[in-house]
Amino acid sequence: MNLHLTLNGQPKTLTCTPDESLMSALRRVGVWSVKHGCETGECGACSVLLDGKLVPTCILLAAQASGRSVVTVESLSTGSEMHPIQQAFAETGAIQCGYCTPAMILATKALLDQEKHPTEAQAREALSAALCRCTGYVKPVEAVLRAAAMLRGEAVPPIDGEGGIPVETQHAASVLFGPQGGAAPETPETAGGVGGVITQPRVTTRPTVQAGQKTEVVGHSETKVDAVKLAKGRPVFADDVDLPGMLHAAMLTSPHAHARIKRIDASRARALPGVHAVLTHQDVPRVIYASGGQSWPNPPPYDQVSLDSKVRFVGDRVAVVAAETPEIAREALELIEVEYEPLPAVFDPEEAMRGEVLIHDEPDAQKIHDAAHNVAATVHATVGDFEKALAESHSKFERTYYSHQVQQAAIEPHVVITYWDEDDRLVIRTATQVPFHVRRMVAPLIGLPVKRIRVIKPRIGGGFGGKQEMLIEDLCAHLTLATGRPVRFEYTRELEFTSSRSRHPQTITYRAGVMKDGTLHALEMKIIEDTGAYGTHGLTVCSVSANRGLSLYRCSHMRLDAKVVYTNKPVPGAFRGYGAPQAHWALESLMDEIAAELNLDPVDFRLKNAVRVGDSLPLAKALGEGREGFEQTIQSCGLAECVAQGAAAIGWDRRRTDAPPGRLSDWRVDPGRPHIRRGLGMAACMQGTAIAGLDMGAASIKMNDDGSFNLLVGATDLGTGSDTVLAQIAAETLGVPLADVIIYSSDTDFTPFDTGAYASSTTYISGGAVKKAAEQARGQIFERAARMLKYDRRDVPPERLYAGMYLKDRRAYLPDGRSVSLAEVALNSLHAEPQTQIMATASHMSYESPPPFAAQYAEVEVDTQTGQVTVKKLVMAVDCGTAINPVAATGQIEGGMAQALGYAVCEEMAYDEQGSLLTRRFADYHIFTADEMPELQAILVPTYEPSGPFGAKAVAEIPMDGVAPAVANAVCHAVGVRIRDLPITPEKVWRELSGGAGRGAGVIGR
Ligand code: FES
Ligand code: FES
Repeated sequence: MNLHLTLNGQPKTLTCTPDESLMSALRRVGVWSVKHGCETGECGACSVLLDGKLVPTCILLAAQASGRSVVTVESLSTGSEMHPIQQAFAETGAIQCGYCTPAMILATKALLDQEKHPTEAQAREALSAALCRCTGYVKPVEAVLRAAAMLRGEAVPPIDGEGGIPVETQHAASVLFGPQGGAAPETPETAGGVGGVITQPRVTTRPTVQAGQKTEVVGHSETKVDAVKLAKGRPVFADDVDLPGMLHAAMLTSPHAHARIKRIDASRARALPGVHAVLTHQDVPRVIYASGGQSWPNPPPYDQVSLDSKVRFVGDRVAVVAAETPEIAREALELIEVEYEPLPAVFDPEEAMRGEVLIHDEPDAQKIHDAAHNVAATVHATVGDFEKALAESHSKFERTYYSHQVQQAAIEPHVVITYWDEDDRLVIRTATQVPFHVRRMVAPLIGLPVKRIRVIKPRIGGGFGGKQEMLIEDLCAHLTLATGRPVRFEYTRELEFTSSRSRHPQTITYRAGVMKDGTLHALEMKIIEDTGAYGTHGLTVCSVSANRGLSLYRCSHMRLDAKVVYTNKPVPGAFRGYGAPQAHWALESLMDEIAAELNLDPVDFRLKNAVRVGDSLPLAKALGEGREGFEQTIQSCGLAECVAQGAAAIGWDRRRTDAPPGRLSDWRVDPGRPHIRRGLGMAACMQGTAIAGLDMGAASIKMNDDGSFNLLVGATDLGTGSDTVLAQIAAETLGVPLADVIIYSSDTDFTPFDTGAYASSTTYISGGAVKKAAEQARGQIFERAARMLKYDRRDVPPERLYAGMYLKDRRAYLPDGRSVSLAEVALNSLHAEPQTQIMATASHMSYESPPPFAAQYAEVEVDTQTGQVTVKKLVMAVDCGTAINPVAATGQIEGGMAQALGYAVCEEMAYDEQGSLLTRRFADYHIFTADEMPELQAILVPTYEPSGPFGAKAVAEIPMDGVAPAVANAVCHAVGVRIRDLPITPEKVWRELSGGAGRGAGVIGR
């Protein structure tokens, strides 16, 4: 049918079928800003303005738009100009991955068309039409208010510089606690502040990179290099292309938690007109692999094949189809006849270890630790003599904590397009965090050499670890091999939940011994980790849990015993934090429990025992990721300052000066709501920065005729801003503004190798490579400038060849003060004798994994009648070394806290008794909307990490670590109930308040 509408102010005729959605019809004609994140009208990513009103188009028939006006984000700007709303989103850092951005901008437009002076509440309500998994909504709300001011014609303050971000929640830092006991200033250069740390209130001033070193680009809140194209809704994501002859894939999944496929017959499906291929386990080679996107050789076990004759969870792969349309592909799935032999299933790791159900009985699986008892892997480590130390201890504790399975829920689903190029090489265009691992891992599965595969990683709409997996690329490639046609394979939202990856549930039991003076003397950690049906990241996540759970506090006698156990559940994998959130949940709950029982201040108790500069981490060597690690010594630590600044921001003094026992301070109660109690809680956190001795990144830089630079990196920006940060490092080193560095990431044909975006490694590892490459290019520029200006260096020793030379403001300066522009240097090098291309490539790896530190605070209200916990405010102060881009860094912290809050109180993958997932859509698996968020405050506490580029450490993962224990500790402070079983639901709190005894729960002080 033909329908007539007005599209972005122009008359338009759309040809579509009567049942086609408006989303599909718009994308088919190239309106790529209309994104797809679900099929149920719940994520808002597909929204447009229909007659001025924001509506999701995935649940709207195209026919319903007939005769009406449709406005998309493409219409807001012309040429290089941006609409003030787009500009505000770009400037404030409201754009991270950018996948939700078109919808958010349109939501803002709909609001500001009606209301010139919106309140924050109105901004939040408007933005709640679009789910964002990256930002925590702090900066999008700022963007709405800034855009409103711009549209009113008001001057708005600059984002970068002394004026800082215009927020109402800035706090002057006051140091409540002295320098961490015994902590020496970390380096002479940074010993200008309290405790060896440079003190500052928030991201309102530029962090000092290093005393005496003034930076022009690094340490500044530069606008993201990809912000403009993302604000304009340009076609930059994996699915924003339409290839001639492209087929659409669909996947048949198992309805059983555990079954053998006795018979499978795809003949009827193959006979359906429009179907080009149906692949089952009978049609693809059986090659054993591990799907985690990790370095070679992949950590064990190797327990998967592309398609198997056995299924091990509801949602496991059974068959894939490629057809002319998505509808035909789905119809074909219905025609595949499968006869299953259901097998007993097991969903509890303890039960699974009894070995009554055998999940991996296939003879070709490799390196499973104990398949007969469903134990995929184990990890053990010990220092000192734990049992003896426990016996010596004055107080002994044993507690068990439970964490649950949650989903990354990136708004962009997994999506991949595969096709043959003109040289008969297979191109895989995919939303992945690990393009180089994908190329290496796919090759043996499809029987092609690596050299015949090219992986292109466009922009990614969020990953959070879920895309650190070779998840569907193999199936899509098999379909292109089978058909010779381009094939597009996208997970539906339901498949994202049932058949993607998630966070490992863990049961952690600590035993601890504490001496009379409050010194932690003995600590034992036992972990039972549920890895679901396949091992993938199970071993390495468990190793990180152990490392994080036994490294934050000094203790001479420690022991670890961990088991990674198969069950018949959907498979956990990498999820931001990678085992650290589970460890912190247990450890930081335990520390509060110990402090309460010993009548110690929980903050003082932590700081007394916390690691500090100069400490070595005794288990770091034993607990590498799937292999032996390397000795680690802490060279930078701002934990004490984080604790102090976070405490000031949350008003921790209120807790310290609480009324005597038996009486409640005024702030703890609400006279108008006598059933409400308030509490404050905190947690200390420590993450790693990259995987020591394993992660490697490379970068290439070349100089162009005008003195600008191309920077090619294999690193993968999944919305974190790493492209911007890497370009800032290059620009700083080369003395040019950020605009003069054109960064490209990543394409296995054109960019150098990088292990990928995970383990908080990109700034540190890839940034190290960029800095090295830029320094080499800088040396070549010095060389050429000296030649051009006939600067005599005959008597200069080689090690001082460039002494006194520097690059600044696009010029190369010689020690005698003369200078030449970089454009002149470039032209001379390219066109005058001896002609050379100024270019350099460098690789970087590190045997260090310097920990970022943080203090997380939470303020809660608990309804004693219903058990409802309402988190009112979250504050996180983070020591990430030098924040290369402070706005990007705080954006990571805010977004991480929002995800961590979901982990703490509401997100949960729930199953029925047959192991079938109940939470298969956003309506059931709730992630927070803008109008549901508490106040968030991110504080940067700069330190200088000597091993990092410009002193940088990681920031991406640590925000996931502290919210759950801080909230649990705040709940305990509010109502005396100790919850040890995540998530902290009203039901669990209410049961405890009512005298019940839930799993691991307990009532304190009643
Ligand atoms: S609301 Fe339409 S794709 Fe999610
Ligand atoms: S920026 Fe909102 S989903 Fe990524």
